[in-house]
Amino acid sequence: MKAIALKPQTRDIRIAGRAEPSITAPDEIKIQVLRVGICGTDREEAAGGRAMAPAGGGDLVIGHEMFGKVVETGRDVSRVKPGDFAVFTVRRGCGKCLPCAMNRPDMCRTGDYRERGIWGLDGYQTEYVVDREQYVVKVPAAIQDTGVLIEPLSVAEKAIDEAVRLQSARLPDACAAPAWLSGKRCLVAGLGPIGLLAALALRIRGARVYGLDIVDPGTARPKWIEEIGGNYIDGRNAGPGQKKAGGAIGQMDMIFEAAGIAALDFNLLDALASNGVYVLTGIPGGDRPLQIDGAELMRRLVLFNQVMAGSVNAAHGHFQMAVNDLLQAGIIWSGHAEKLITHRHRIEEFREVFAGHPPDEIKAVIEWA
Ligand code: BGC
Repeated sequence: MKAIALKPQTRDIRIAGRAEPSITAPDEIKIQVLRVGICGTDREEAAGGRAMAPAGGGDLVIGHEMFGKVVETGRDVSRVKPGDFAVFTVRRGCGKCLPCAMNRPDMCRTGDYRERGIWGLDGYQTEYVVDREQYVVKVPAAIQDTGVLIEPLSVAEKAIDEAVRLQSARLPDACAAPAWLSGKRCLVAGLGPIGLLAALALRIRGARVYGLDIVDPGTARPKWIEEIGGNYIDGRNAGPGQKKAGGAIGQMDMIFEAAGIAALDFNLLDALASNGVYVLTGIPGGDRPLQIDGAELMRRLVLFNQVMAGSVNAAHGHFQMAVNDLLQAGIIWSGHAEKLITHRHRIEEFREVFAGHPPDEIKAVIEWA
């Protein structure tokens, strides 16, 4: 069968042949891949950045944002049956630490985890994949058109969930309110797919959402966020002074960072309210040095009871939250989440897809079926 494979730390990416996998254990599931999304991580891998081939192999099948249809199940499988739509999660545990033993490899302590399509395990840009039932998430047919967004949304779900749990553990009003986010002011920095999907999840929870980017108002991403009741902030007009209380942005109860630009992201601390929570999901590429005023940063965090937290990957439960939110989104804003998939490519177009990001692209996918 065909697969898109790369040689890690090079720009060598090509169509490779792989043996079609088959079920070898009673808890395994075979899925026909229908489409796979492309994100910044994939493009970084294709540009010679962070990636690792499976042990003993020279190349890595890329792709971690999958969506497919179950074609066969082992005899012990009960979560899905042939014909169901489904996705597999990304990370596989180290086999050594407690979080991994609890199927929470997203919180692996040793760092010896593997990630399909990224780190040490072949990914999903191929025709068929097999994996174990504990990693499968069933996708209702009602969201088959947005199923490929479940993985990036799961990353946003985890970050939001962590931020809310942190607040619930320490704020008197947050422990008293099951829907703490309702009415809260949330800034989403960086309106790529993760930022827009975070905005969606936050709007579903009733938050007042402000999306910050540096594109012209009236273009696709600002319009998308406004259509779900969010507000667009053009970062080019919002200098640091204006971000202070009473300024253009005002103070935020939560900041969700999805830009991966360190210089911008530390500046945004100006906009964080007292007792606010700031959660980071961007993984900056390169190593451009940045000067930050460490004393000022410490003063803010301490004197205003602020929390800054990083979040990566997602657990099975966060994938389930993503499924639920896409179902909700379909009910509230029918057809809207679908608009995030702006570019659909044939397999043969893989080179240009991994090479660059056209300005009008939100989410690009490769269609396998
Ligand atoms: C993926 C995560 C992964 C992270 C780091 C992201 O693009 O969505 O699943 O953990 O990259 O490799």
